[in-house]
Amino acid sequence: MNRRKFIKNTALTSAGIAIGSSLANCKNKSTHSTEINALTTGANVKSKLPLVIATWSVKEATAKAMEVLDAGGNALDAVEQGCKIEEANEKGQSVGKGGLPDRDGKVTLDACIMDKHGNCGAVVYLQNITHAVSVARKVMEDTPHVMLAGEGAKQFAISKGFEPEDLLTEASKQAWEKWKVEAKYKPIINIENHDTIGMLAIDKNGDISGACTTSGLAYKMGGRVGDSPIIGSGLFVDNEIGACVATGLGEEVVKTVGSFLVVELMRQGKAPQKACEEAISRIVNKPNSNYKDFQVGYIAVNKKGETGSYSIHQWFSMTKFQNGVNEQIQSDYFLKT
Ligand code: GLY
Repeated sequence: MNRRKFIKNTALTSAGIAIGSSLANCKNKSTHSTEINALTTGANVKSKLPLVIATWSVKEATAKAMEVLDAGGNALDAVEQGCKIEEANEKGQSVGKGGLPDRDGKVTLDACIMDKHGNCGAVVYLQNITHAVSVARKVMEDTPHVMLAGEGAKQFAISKGFEPEDLLTEASKQAWEKWKVEAKYKPIINIENHDTIGMLAIDKNGDISGACTTSGLAYKMGGRVGDSPIIGSGLFVDNEIGACVATGLGEEVVKTVGSFLVVELMRQGKAPQKACEEAISRIVNKPNSNYKDFQVGYIAVNKKGETGSYSIHQWFSMTKFQNGVNEQIQSDYFLKT
């Protein structure tokens, strides 16, 4: 089940996003794996590093990240390069170039990145620059700040050599024109809507980094920002413990500081899978939660290289590249009936 099919089958909020391409199946071999031993609930578990996981079916992106890791690159380089694959993919209408616009026809991007030291950078409401994740990295590395927004973020990117370009493709423009006929800004059932690319990697040294990039909710209000550039919500990395990244309706992730929650649950001893499940339960168990109308999904990895993924609705998936196998793994989910 690719991302398109997932979202078609899921009740989500607001007006629709057409989701990106299904990507080629890759079974690339990781040639420089480092075997590690790890203890999990008393059992001796063997894992292989390096390791990459990402939200949804993005095998070309995880393959790129693994290529970086196999060549001796670090986790930070890997997640940036991996996310850039999806940002450049014009067929993907939820990330980077070709992303669906806001209700005024503007494509606005949110992204963040976090390294093994806990350093982080983010951009919000970035326009005309395809590689938002790379601008986020520049914010982290070349400024004293964590986050730049809007025109300031764009001018910063240009000053760093990023070329401004029109991100609204003909396909996304047509989709927006169609949406404008009714211009309904309310929950719609069974319509393609949303997805964010989040990626987590552990390199051969056992160090973790993560990144997250999105064009956000399609036809959103001008100025709307979701969870993806918010450190602790869309992404959190703690190199002692593990990392988590979120996808789905950002407002609900922000309200529960989802990615930080998952990492803290892992700190308390939960496996990544259980931590993701607990974070979803915090959303669905809220009084008056309308969780049947939206999707949230988490993926997580711990320091031992164990992974987990969980979502509210069916058909969320994680792409995992480990031990030479690049595979899409269907996520378990809450709403079984
Ligand atoms: N999760 C991405 C967003 O809500 O914008």
